[in-house]
Amino acid sequence: DASDIEKGTYPHYMLKEMDEQPGVVRKIIQEYSNEAGELTIDDQILEAIKAADRLYIIAAGTSYHAGLVGKQYFEKLAGIPVEVHISSEFGYNMPLLSEKPLFIFITQSGETADSRQVLVKVKELNYPALTITNVPGSTLSREADYTLLLHAGPEIAVASTKAYVAQVAVLAIAAYVTGKSLGKGVVLDLKQELAIVANGIQTIVDSKDELEQIAEDYLKIARNAFFIGRNLDFCVSVEGALKLKEISYIQAEGFAGGELKHGTIALIEEGTPVFALATQEQVALNIRGNVKEVVARGANACIISMEGLNEEGDRLVIPKVHTLLTPLVAVVPLQLISYYAALHRRCDVDKPRNLAKSVTVE
Ligand code: G6P
Repeated sequence: DASDIEKGTYPHYMLKEMDEQPGVVRKIIQEYSNEAGELTIDDQILEAIKAADRLYIIAAGTSYHAGLVGKQYFEKLAGIPVEVHISSEFGYNMPLLSEKPLFIFITQSGETADSRQVLVKVKELNYPALTITNVPGSTLSREADYTLLLHAGPEIAVASTKAYVAQVAVLAIAAYVTGKSLGKGVVLDLKQELAIVANGIQTIVDSKDELEQIAEDYLKIARNAFFIGRNLDFCVSVEGALKLKEISYIQAEGFAGGELKHGTIALIEEGTPVFALATQEQVALNIRGNVKEVVARGANACIISMEGLNEEGDRLVIPKVHTLLTPLVAVVPLQLISYYAALHRRCDVDKPRNLAKSVTVE
């Protein structure tokens, strides 16, 4: 439906698509619920996942970052080991495969050439493949054995936002349903937790003034920026850095908090912006330690913590959600901060230089 992809009153598709994120999570809950109201995935797909002794996630760009989160879901909720690979690297650096691999391609467009090349190879070797995509009938969907749809609606802005959230949500559901079916003693009520996530995202997209102010305070004159986190916050840090690079052209790096001291801390100067995520209880104190280290070297640190783990002086506190689901919420302020940083610099937010929405050449 063409009206689906109009900007309406929005100045940019990216802003519209970020605003759609609570609705996307709710839509996914609905699409993946059975008549009894329980989360479910197609039986054949469930069996294919259960039959695998290892999952190989293959993806590029933002979808790769969603895969990093997905690995934790399948390992923690379903007890299945997972490897995550960059599609363009996989072709010439194929790992030793397990006996019964299942390949999972994560791709918003379903058209990325780098990912498709791997799929072609996987099919030549006769291994099963599942594509997680936003586009029904896309090449990677047609050529794989199975498809899980993201139901995010068309994503027009080159910088991916709602598709990332949709990918992480669908991966959570697939892992959860598998874990339950395998009797892994999964205790969380994912459906309810995802509903809480949708509300949490809503709170953040309703805080635009504050996020615009953060962008102004930290990034207006910045030449570079760092995003640090540990555990799942690290996965989100790399996505936050990618968003900022893509649309504002500020050089940015996402880093594991503990790895900073092994080199990158040399780059911290007076006023260097450092965004630190603190949503993971287990490592919240460690990341605060890293913040102290960079602040001592002059960094302008912006701590984004989660309710319950927050401390005085944190610049933003995101609503409390289940510890496994924090990426779905924590990524949103980073998207919006990038958006406003790009606006301040008068960048073309929806069509950044040198980038394409989907790269169909190698
Ligand atoms: C392009 C886009 C990125 C996207 C990547 C993978 O480089 O600019 O935003 O993450 O392709 O796209 P896919 O459609 O496979 O998720």
